[in-house]
Amino acid sequence: MLDVSFVRSQYKVLTIGEYSDWAFFENAGGSYIPEQVLGGFVEFLGEYKVQPYGPSAIARCAGEAMDAGYAAIAEMINARPDEITIGPSTTLNTYVLAQGIRRTLKPGDEIIVTNQDHEANIGCWRRLAEEGAVIREWSVDPKTGLLDPADLENLLSDKTRLVCFTLCSNVVASIHDVAKLCERIHQTGALVVGDGVSLAPHHALDVQASGLDFYCFSTYKTYAPHTGVMWARGSAMSQLTPQGHYFNNESPRYRMNPTGPLHAEIGALAGLRGYIDILYKHHFDQNETNLRKQTEAVFGLFAAHEEKIGNRVLDFLASRDDLRVVGEHHIDQGNRASTIAFTSSSKTSSSIATGLAQHKIACGSGNFYARRCVESMGIDAEDGVVRVSMVHYNNDEEVSRLLAALDSVL
Ligand SMILES: Cc1ncc(COP(=O)(O)O)c(C=O)c1O
Repeated sequence: MLDVSFVRSQYKVLTIGEYSDWAFFENAGGSYIPEQVLGGFVEFLGEYKVQPYGPSAIARCAGEAMDAGYAAIAEMINARPDEITIGPSTTLNTYVLAQGIRRTLKPGDEIIVTNQDHEANIGCWRRLAEEGAVIREWSVDPKTGLLDPADLENLLSDKTRLVCFTLCSNVVASIHDVAKLCERIHQTGALVVGDGVSLAPHHALDVQASGLDFYCFSTYKTYAPHTGVMWARGSAMSQLTPQGHYFNNESPRYRMNPTGPLHAEIGALAGLRGYIDILYKHHFDQNETNLRKQTEAVFGLFAAHEEKIGNRVLDFLASRDDLRVVGEHHIDQGNRASTIAFTSSSKTSSSIATGLAQHKIACGSGNFYARRCVESMGIDAEDGVVRVSMVHYNNDEEVSRLLAALDSVL
């Protein structure tokens, strides 16, 4: 079982920080950062914030820190460092990816997008209609917000070039069977882009086993500073038009990254190795050093804990007939993440989030840029849903405070 007190002791913000008396339930918007990651970030900025990879000891040190950041991320998702682009955000990575795919399209080629996704994995693909691509929408069930794989089946054809879908929506939170979907989509010869931004904080995806061609997630939601990671399968990457400077076309890091990299942020990602390692050694044996194995084991503990606290919240919400819960109503064996969205029949979502803040409960309301998803369920897109999002460091005591506060605010 996850030792949540031990986990929380790794976070200054949860123990001695200015806001440590707040219960934080807006993790889907961005998670807290443990000491191992924060320490590396501060060290980079304080000791060697220079142009990396020069001949000086300082520049070498900065370059080594960045290499360690790429290596840690790659190992965690079972990839190679040269398969990874680290840009400023997922929205920018998918935008650049769309530019890389744009010139490879012929008029009449079909692209399937969902209306469940965050706009980061919709808008850039929809714009390719300007190049003559035909956009098909895999639409959610308006009652539940869920996507049905049978509906995708009706959209796939030998014209399908690309399918872009969320692995876990930031509002509906159901976790799709990515390997099964990719296997089916690949039968058409299409490429698959998976948005893992809302999955990665909860689940240690193995990119090789996933079947995806492109996997994107954002490290500011996975216990680290603000970057966007994009993994590309080699065979898929080689089909793209490079988007960096012309002399960087063969550079794995810069081929699909037109910007200068975020040196300190990337360097800090190496601290995730220390975070996972300390959690692994606390719960399991002392000798395992393989980061991928450690990540799988530790995220297994996270999932069991999140299922428990998530179901406490879901059960409470289901017990009230003035609330509508989006997506599945129970977490069971990885069917959904502990990101829980709901609306009230008598109160606005914003007034509920504001009311909770008065009880020192931090959560969000709105459409969270999954505007099409919220609208498709008949929910006012401006007011949107209340979103209570938990990760592994949330504890039972915080959930009890949340439920008491919700009871009072509702
Ligand atoms: C599911 C999902 N996809 C994509 C994004 C966009 O990520 P970024 O902020 O890194 O552009 C978000 C951000 O909230 C998200 O939740």
